[in-house]
Amino acid sequence: MNSYTVKPAKGLKGEIKVPGDKSISHRSIMFGSIACGITRVTGFLRGEDALATLNAFRAMGVEVEDDGMTLAIHGKGLHGLTEPSDVLDCGNSGTSMRLLAGLLAGQNFFSVLTGDKYLRARPMKRVVAPIGLMGGRIHGRFGGEKAPLAIQGSKLKAIEYDSPVSSAQVKSAIMLAGLYANGETLIREPHVSRDHSERMLRYLGASVESFDGGVKIGGDVELSGREISVPGDISSAAFFMVAALIVPNSELLIRGVGVNPTRTGIIDILKAMGGDLELLNQREESGEPVADIRVRSSQLKGIEISGELVPRAIDEFPVICVAASLAEGTTVLRGAMELRVKETDRIAAMATNLRKAGVEVLELPDGMEIIGMERISGCMAESFGDHRIAMSMMVAGLVAKGETRVSDVDCIATSFPGFRDLLMGVVQR
Ligand code: S3P
Repeated sequence: MNSYTVKPAKGLKGEIKVPGDKSISHRSIMFGSIACGITRVTGFLRGEDALATLNAFRAMGVEVEDDGMTLAIHGKGLHGLTEPSDVLDCGNSGTSMRLLAGLLAGQNFFSVLTGDKYLRARPMKRVVAPIGLMGGRIHGRFGGEKAPLAIQGSKLKAIEYDSPVSSAQVKSAIMLAGLYANGETLIREPHVSRDHSERMLRYLGASVESFDGGVKIGGDVELSGREISVPGDISSAAFFMVAALIVPNSELLIRGVGVNPTRTGIIDILKAMGGDLELLNQREESGEPVADIRVRSSQLKGIEISGELVPRAIDEFPVICVAASLAEGTTVLRGAMELRVKETDRIAAMATNLRKAGVEVLELPDGMEIIGMERISGCMAESFGDHRIAMSMMVAGLVAKGETRVSDVDCIATSFPGFRDLLMGVVQR
């Protein structure tokens, strides 16, 4: 288990591109594999999570050519996948496991999904239960709550489902099962979660209709392979946005970032905190909005965050906590209990780390209160095996007094290979 030591920076300067969007990369493989014809994907994220999805589809007979730049997925149509002869290992990836659970429930074969110790501890009933209502047969530990999941493919029927959580993984799993069901499947959620599945499925020819509060998908419609360009991941860009805001004398330009409105909560939150962020050169690529983002150092102030903003920034809260630690006043986050069931309990993990850095943090069941301060201290931070906790504490280290050592940073490779080099490449000493 490797650790990194980060020292204070004098500024961040330059132009960067971050790796491809993780959510869109997963979906390009999944949807391309069940489309008819070839899907060519550029900008694919070569992180461990998306590669786990790629390996799973190769194990189900899908040919994927890779010249190092472009993936060419030879789609097999809705009913062309073949039974994998071994368990499918999703590694650390909740997206792989939950979306695959929906897709595999409608196949005419048996499959088993497993993952690392963190993924095997995460809740799966949220997909197993609705897919069960569709006639799907998924078994798992603790009555289907935990992986490994064993899936006997079967005929599915369309349902109307009110999801108790705003989760794109739940919504997408049901949509994928819905593709294999007779009739129209309808899903409602409390607040809208990221809509990459809706956009990409529509782009590939599925019958998908988004409405206020939910989405409808028609069953048994074949998809057609197309070119997909994956934009930079706003969740990866977020570490650089916060770093450039909190380190004085910084100006960064982050090129080609996905700015889908269901993902831009981070920009809205940082702007509300007083952050100087500008979206430039806004455009659309393969059905997804893209922009360059210019960020300049800013004095931040504490704000209150809740409601629809929470799912729109769900992966960014660890680094938002770092921004809040350096803001003037208190930041209050509520309605974010989902953070407790991410790769780790991100509320507890950030509270532990920030307290070590001298920050006053109050943990709440569904969020936290963070009292901002002028200067935090270097500390021995823990990743808890969670990539976003590790990267957030490295960003904190850029403004801390003394050195910050972050333990067990290997997990960063799940979403952001090359993070350290990219960060150190723009740091001024
Ligand atoms: C994702 C959805 C979110 C997010 C995860 C990726 C996706 O999870 O946290 O990193 O690709 O659909 P939930 O659906 O559990 O909120």
